Amino acid sequence: MMRKKILVTGGSGFIGGNFVQYMVNKYPDYDIYNLDLLTYAGDLTKHREIEEKDNYWFIKADIADREEIIPLFTSKKFDYVVHFAAESHVDRSITEPEIFIRTNVLGTQVLLDAAKLVNVKKFVHVSTDEVYGELDFDPNIFFTEDTPLQPNSPYSASKASSDLLVRSYSETYGLPVNITRCSNNYGPYHFPEKLIPLTISRVLNDQKVPVYGDGKNIRDWLHVIDHCSAIDLVLHEGENGEVYNVGGHNERNNLEVVKTILHTLNKSEDLIEFVEDRLGHDKRYAIDPTKLEKLGWKPKYNFDTGIAQTIQWYLDNKEWWEQIISGEYREYFEKQYNV
Ligand code: NAD
Ligand code: DAU
Repeated sequence: MMRKKILVTGGSGFIGGNFVQYMVNKYPDYDIYNLDLLTYAGDLTKHREIEEKDNYWFIKADIADREEIIPLFTSKKFDYVVHFAAESHVDRSITEPEIFIRTNVLGTQVLLDAAKLVNVKKFVHVSTDEVYGELDFDPNIFFTEDTPLQPNSPYSASKASSDLLVRSYSETYGLPVNITRCSNNYGPYHFPEKLIPLTISRVLNDQKVPVYGDGKNIRDWLHVIDHCSAIDLVLHEGENGEVYNVGGHNERNNLEVVKTILHTLNKSEDLIEFVEDRLGHDKRYAIDPTKLEKLGWKPKYNFDTGIAQTIQWYLDNKEWWEQIISGEYREYFEKQYNV
């Protein structure tokens, strides 16, 4: 039987990196190609354990570079594409929106053209719940796949734009696609600019944790491995052209999240520092995952078990995040938080 060739874009980042490891280990008879530009958010050290496997390859390339991407697809003839590569941090999109449009919108369109050219069997576009905008604090209201797109940040606007392009390639050219829209992820290899790893790494160094506004904004947290299993399922079983929301009903406000980490690490709540709010800060995200559950998906972690596993991972893997926060990230932190 022919081996399946799967191209994973952004496979050196947080979620893509976890997905690549999950797939390489779970499917020895699939060939997994990780295409990544290795921006500030990408790092290859996380893949040391799979590098030697004969079903894993790394390709350094820019998804927005048509001259590079089209010949790559025509020579490799990938069967499937799982597209994670993106600029992903909302705060960076507020200060520098342009790169979000280039990578997230233009890069997605180049990949769609390449996928169409070689007739891929499925293009899974990994999107986000942020494309739906924000919910108010009524706990009975959730994002469903039919919620209108109302993105509020340059990041989410760029992701919504890419979702619409993916939809158009399905409607116009019959490209077999799925779009997944997941809630906030956390877990191993989460880059320390995002709330949970930022809090863990700063608390472990007895540094203040910046909480935006009053800390009451709500996010719906999902362990990254549960996101990986959802994408695996959609890749294999998703109905062509369909959107699937991904989330496990783990809503917490930001103060609750920070306090959970402080308590687990036996540190004082005095480390919390309320700082200026994020511009256009979405109030609440919450996912209704019924459609994906009907496809057979079930998460392995809830927030309590997942955050405990994650904190332990950061304790056990200090050298990974210490190398990041001592590099160019330091400059970013000082500029972002005005310190
Ligand atoms: P990340 O920032 O950790 O990783 C992004 C990866 O993409 C990096 O390895 C980076 O080097 C690569 N990349 C960036 N620009 C590129 C380019 N032009 N060409 C090739 N590679 C490029 O992001 P993440 O948090 O792992 O998110 C991955 C995807 O999942 C994104 O599309 C994001 O929108 C989506 N998503 C993220 C979350 C979350 O909570 N982090 C939730 C839902 C959806
Ligand atoms: O919902 C999915 C999205 O989740 C993904 O699409 C994005 O790629 C991902 O970055 C994430 O976006 P958020 O903006 O929700 O994540 P972030 O970790 O940046 O912030 C989580 C919450 O914590 C948010 O309400 C802002 C707040 N926050 C964040 C930082 C970095 C703080 O209070 N202090 C901080 O220093």
